[in-house]
Amino acid sequence: MCGIVGYIGKKDARSIILDGLQKLEYRGYDSAGVGLVGNGEVKIYKDKGRVAHLKELVDTSFETHVGIGHTRWATHGSPTKMNAHPHTSQSGRFTIVHNGVIENFRELKARYLSGYSFKSQTDTEVIANLLERYFNKYGSFDRAFSKTLSRLEGSFALLILDNTNLDTIYFAKNKTPLVVGIAEDGIVFGSDVIPLAGNAKKYVSLDDGVKGKATKDGVEFTDFVGLQEDIEYKELDITADELTKGSYPHFMLKEINEEPSVVRKLVQEYFDEDDIVINEKLLETIRNCDKINLVACGTSMHASYMAKYFFEKFCEIPTEVFCASELVYSTPLIKDNPCFIFLSQSGETADSIACMKKFNDQKFPIIAITNVPSSTMVSIADFHLDLHAGPEVAVASTKAYTAEVIVTCILAKAVRGKKTHLSYNLEKCAVAMEEVISKAPIIEMMAKQIMDASDVFFIGRGIDYWACLECSLKLKEVSYIHSEAFPSGELKHGTIALIEKGTPVITICTQEGTNPIVRNNLVETQARGSKPFVISTESLSVASDAIDIPNVNHYLSPLISVIVGQLLAYYVATLKGNDVDKPKNLAKSVTVE
Ligand code: M6R
Repeated sequence: MCGIVGYIGKKDARSIILDGLQKLEYRGYDSAGVGLVGNGEVKIYKDKGRVAHLKELVDTSFETHVGIGHTRWATHGSPTKMNAHPHTSQSGRFTIVHNGVIENFRELKARYLSGYSFKSQTDTEVIANLLERYFNKYGSFDRAFSKTLSRLEGSFALLILDNTNLDTIYFAKNKTPLVVGIAEDGIVFGSDVIPLAGNAKKYVSLDDGVKGKATKDGVEFTDFVGLQEDIEYKELDITADELTKGSYPHFMLKEINEEPSVVRKLVQEYFDEDDIVINEKLLETIRNCDKINLVACGTSMHASYMAKYFFEKFCEIPTEVFCASELVYSTPLIKDNPCFIFLSQSGETADSIACMKKFNDQKFPIIAITNVPSSTMVSIADFHLDLHAGPEVAVASTKAYTAEVIVTCILAKAVRGKKTHLSYNLEKCAVAMEEVISKAPIIEMMAKQIMDASDVFFIGRGIDYWACLECSLKLKEVSYIHSEAFPSGELKHGTIALIEKGTPVITICTQEGTNPIVRNNLVETQARGSKPFVISTESLSVASDAIDIPNVNHYLSPLISVIVGQLLAYYVATLKGNDVDKPKNLAKSVTVE
């Protein structure tokens, strides 16, 4: 949600910023804008709509080496040109882009800015005018900046230009990510490292409470008061190639196809022969706890159900899965000695971060499992495990699910501490995944048969039900078809009333123990007219099943069955002509609660 890019240096700022904003499109947005320094002034271009549209608006006739850009996902005020960033202070002196939410912006407006007129409905314009007010009062940018920051409550990543000093970009960060890339020819800013790829070799992921200024020659970091900050530089390991679709028509399809290589990468990263390599202190922390609480949202929450199974089955530690947005407000009784494990592709999900901070304040051990080592969650947690899935650009999460299931499985096996054949079994999964992906034409045929449905149900039991949850989420996210997942036994308790002639009921059968009863439940829906589609493992399949998938260890089966669901969602969405990589209303990083 919202993206920031900035550049100051020797290269063309216009292309770095506009291309960077395009790379951030995956985060979700509804308007975009840039402020580019040219001919001694800041030229602002902005509008609602895509970055491609912004590119058409931007004048290319002037040279520019300094600029700031933004993609906005509307929170305060509708997605209009007026509300798009950058925003300027009343006199036009300060130009600003902002990610985050200023919680006390109404109060600041009423209390300190009564003489100011506002052009937009945004909280951001309040920051620009506050800066101007304090500059007028103190006559010093640094003092005005510190004072402004001291007044802000909420989250912000800010880039600021000052009309009277156009060879500097000022920045500040609190509770919303901001990274600073260091290149030979200048400084690049991003909401995450993705716009830095190809432009910088090392970067700093700013801590909360850091501000600073960048010129073409370098960058200075201080705290909000102005005292020097110690900064840790990291190597950037994402290449520009990883951020392209390659020969695939969409990122979602590319990322599904990458799943077998994600499995192999995880084996490479976490195994030394048959031994698992994970920080011993982390393992001891889990061994010493009497309950594991898994916290996540969306797809990561669905992976958490598998993680619960692994921790209970392999480690015999009671484990509970919490939806982060619920947990933060309805916290259950927490007794004795728990630990908290957060699963998140982005590491920036606001609901999860709110919970993480709360339990971190209470001194409970926190483990973050994320795909983004520079993320906020990693900076708060006591321990971090990397998903090693590579950048996931499509809004609908696919390969991160696979990585989350695998990393938690590896972790649970490591906590148990016995020798394991998991690396061998995972290699078998990678091969099985390739086989399923090669059956894409069959899945596309299924997609043709469900694309006109208004409701689709997914049913299964136990592990298959958790896989159904993820398949159903994928389908609704990109196809916009209403879809629900149910434990198949629960249908009779109400939902079966919704089954009509032709309603697709997609059934996952990979578990020997539950296969007969799940198939009985499907027959009950067929008696009410449903159109059945069974996804079954080879050993359980019957002739009428829609697709069979290779057998793998029963507890790893969602790694295979979910790929069918992901491809099904992909094909339904593309057959319907939907923007599958950027589905409507969704954002990749959900950075507001
Ligand atoms: O980055 P996270 O894994 O924390 O994100 C959680 C959810 O927002 C995310 O999984 C969402 O449900 C995706 N759109 C799923 O495709």
